[in-house]
Amino acid sequence: MSTPLPSHPPPPRAAVLTGVGSCLPPTAVTNDELAERLDSSDAWIRSRTGIRRRYVASPGTATSDLAVGAGAKALKSSGTPDVDAVLLATTTPDRPCPATAPAVAARLGLTGAAAYDVSAVCTGFLYALASGAGLIAAGAADRVLVIGAETFSTLLDPDDRSTAVIFGDGAGAVVLRAGDAAEPGALGPFDLGSDGGREELITVAAGGSRQRLSGVPPATRDQYFAMEGKEVFRHAVRRMSASARSVLGRAGWRAEDVDHLVGHQANLRITHHVADAVGIPRRRCFSNIAEVGNTAAASIPLALDQAHADGVLTPGGRVLLTAFGGGLTWGSTVLTWPGPDRA
Ligand code: ACO
Repeated sequence: MSTPLPSHPPPPRAAVLTGVGSCLPPTAVTNDELAERLDSSDAWIRSRTGIRRRYVASPGTATSDLAVGAGAKALKSSGTPDVDAVLLATTTPDRPCPATAPAVAARLGLTGAAAYDVSAVCTGFLYALASGAGLIAAGAADRVLVIGAETFSTLLDPDDRSTAVIFGDGAGAVVLRAGDAAEPGALGPFDLGSDGGREELITVAAGGSRQRLSGVPPATRDQYFAMEGKEVFRHAVRRMSASARSVLGRAGWRAEDVDHLVGHQANLRITHHVADAVGIPRRRCFSNIAEVGNTAAASIPLALDQAHADGVLTPGGRVLLTAFGGGLTWGSTVLTWPGPDRA
């Protein structure tokens, strides 16, 4: 005789944040330094973006170097060096092939762990976080290191003032462990989305299979990152606001329940517009864009690590994460900040 199935299946395993870390290259570049060679000014950059400086990796420093720095700190803060998977969100891998995550895992002493890159431009960290939570929920991993790392400066046209002033390099990382959805630090629900019909708004045109580097050499500008700033601004506000509202609804949180909005650090004005649209007071937005610029897939974990180190994120604080990037892509999730033993 077969055993009857239990009437209530066990709840799925949740991913619980249990460590955080970040890494910046040593060289900071101020707005004034950029204004020396670009037709721009500190006043314009600060008032239109909120950025005062950004860090830039010098030649010889690759994305994996920053990823290893952030990953090592996150593992240390989690209290154990072991994980079953390493996910690296990046738009600037060390090479087109292979993925950068296996090399990062090996340098962290994690040879044998599953390791892969996640590509969703500035939404990459949110997508990687959801993938890590999925691995844990499926029982494929008990502990996952999720890193966002970029050397975006390698994609920029140094003479294009509309992008050269915005982006910076850096990395941030978190460690997730299997746990219970009711625990502090548990991630979710998630909201993820895309609109590939608007991929031309944010591109590096050449270098892939569509516009190849072999054969006719591409126009120089096609090898650089290009963005239609005004349109991107509009979509960023619309998509992050809708995604944040959706995830709050699914979590059963009201806007007034959110203690900290940690959004993708694209532009301080974008963050404030999103907060206004969702109904979160601007003083509850954490922003480090003034010091690091837009670090693409690294921006949310870098902000989390800084907010944690500054004592802004304290145990029990309710945190909303939301991101938007090329693709177009967007995503959001929520968590209650864990206690000192967990982050
Ligand atoms: N310094 C001085 N003037 C500038 C600069 C600069 N660095 N950049 C542009 N300008 C000028 C323009 O040429 C324009 O001059 P004009 O009026 O004579 O034509 C004027 O300033 C206004 O230009 P806008 O593009 O309308 O400026 P805006 O206020 O929109 O700011 C910015 C531009 C900062 C790029 C803004 O549009 C923005 O932040 N967009 C969103 C960026 C973003 O969210 N990126 C994240 C996603 S990217 C990713 O996924 C990797």
